[in-house]
Amino acid sequence: MHLRTATPDDVPSLYALWDRAFDAPLMVPVYETDDGRLDRTHVALDPLDGRVVGSVYWTPRELGGPDGDTLRAGGVANVATAPEARGRGLVRALLARAVEQMERDGADVALLFTGTPDVYRSSGFETFDVPLLRGAPRPVDDPDTAVSDPADDALAASAPGPGTEGDAPVQVRTDRLPGVPWPAWSAAFGWEQLAGLHGAFDVVPGGPRPLATRRTAEHWERRIPLWYSGAEVFTARAADGEVVGYLALEPGPGVLKVRELGVDLTAERAGEVVDALARTTLHRARHHDSPVVEVRLPAHALTDRFVAATLDAPVADTDTTGMLRPVRAGSDAVDRLRDTAAAGVGFHWPGDYV
Ligand SMILES: CC(C)(COP(=O)(O)OP(=O)(O)OC[C@H]1O[C@@H](n2cnc3c(N)ncnc32)[C@H](O)[C@@H]1OP(=O)(O)O)[C@@H](O)C(=O)NCCC(=O)NCCS
Repeated sequence: MHLRTATPDDVPSLYALWDRAFDAPLMVPVYETDDGRLDRTHVALDPLDGRVVGSVYWTPRELGGPDGDTLRAGGVANVATAPEARGRGLVRALLARAVEQMERDGADVALLFTGTPDVYRSSGFETFDVPLLRGAPRPVDDPDTAVSDPADDALAASAPGPGTEGDAPVQVRTDRLPGVPWPAWSAAFGWEQLAGLHGAFDVVPGGPRPLATRRTAEHWERRIPLWYSGAEVFTARAADGEVVGYLALEPGPGVLKVRELGVDLTAERAGEVVDALARTTLHRARHHDSPVVEVRLPAHALTDRFVAATLDAPVADTDTTGMLRPVRAGSDAVDRLRDTAAAGVGFHWPGDYV
């Protein structure tokens, strides 16, 4: 089997491989947001016909480290072997080449998310725990004021919402209804407004939040809307239209997942913004007939408040889909990163999944 990095000629059979291996319509669009992708896509080629029969791709990221520092990370994704070539160590060999390249590139750690961790353990990856909570949505009796046409600011602005900002009510509106195709961000507001709120959540005393990706403008403009293209994005607005909070909810079979919460943590009325967004979550749970709401958010007093307002009798569970591997960093640093994740302080947002 011939192993090398991908060339433009490999792309049709690479995409055909992914099409066979995954039911993931976003995989190619997300991959194509990375301009340097082919040079970091390691492929195995069938010696007879030159088809791509194995792939491992990685993308460089900056993450919060365990000690208030910033780490360079290689995010591993699009790992596949054609059914007829499985069980021969192809992915193990491709992962080794990818990690060597990361090391040359100066990566401190490698990161991935998977439902099959045993594929990666022999390549040096170990899972990390992320706490989450699930529970039945609390009953809600006030009218749902949040849903509006994303193209119609006037309609949204006319809908009074719960909560107060100063003396005026905070209004929660949807900025993208389910089924509206990408891009998720409506023209009525820019990603910069969300980035400011998100950024407040991504610092902890002493530096950047461990494990959290430093989002670039390109991420906000291209990757994040793709990741949340199956989600509903709501914004909480002050009376002057300023975005003071946002929420990404992902409805799915039997569960409504709270994927992202952004609030200006320093704002005097931040708690009321959280309450308004929690009520929106309850209305959406009712709308989708979701018996369960899942909250996977970083540890914070406002997260606790959101949970208390949203979940009835929450039950703790652990997300173990994330895996880490030291590259240039010592294993002690990676162990400490794992500890921060288990404590709910270290956090990787679903919208940044590699
Ligand atoms: C999973 C997959 C990538 C494995 O590819 P492969 O080339 O057969 O893997 P390798 O032969 O290199 O095996 C590497 C390790 O993975 C293990 N492994 C392989 N398939 C596995 C599976 N489905 N579940 C758990 N472990 C698996 C092997 O036992 C081996 O373990 P070891 O190194 O401890 O002996 C391949 O089956 C595939 O493409 N599946 C569909 C897509 C997918 O699930 N991708 C991973 C998404 S995160």
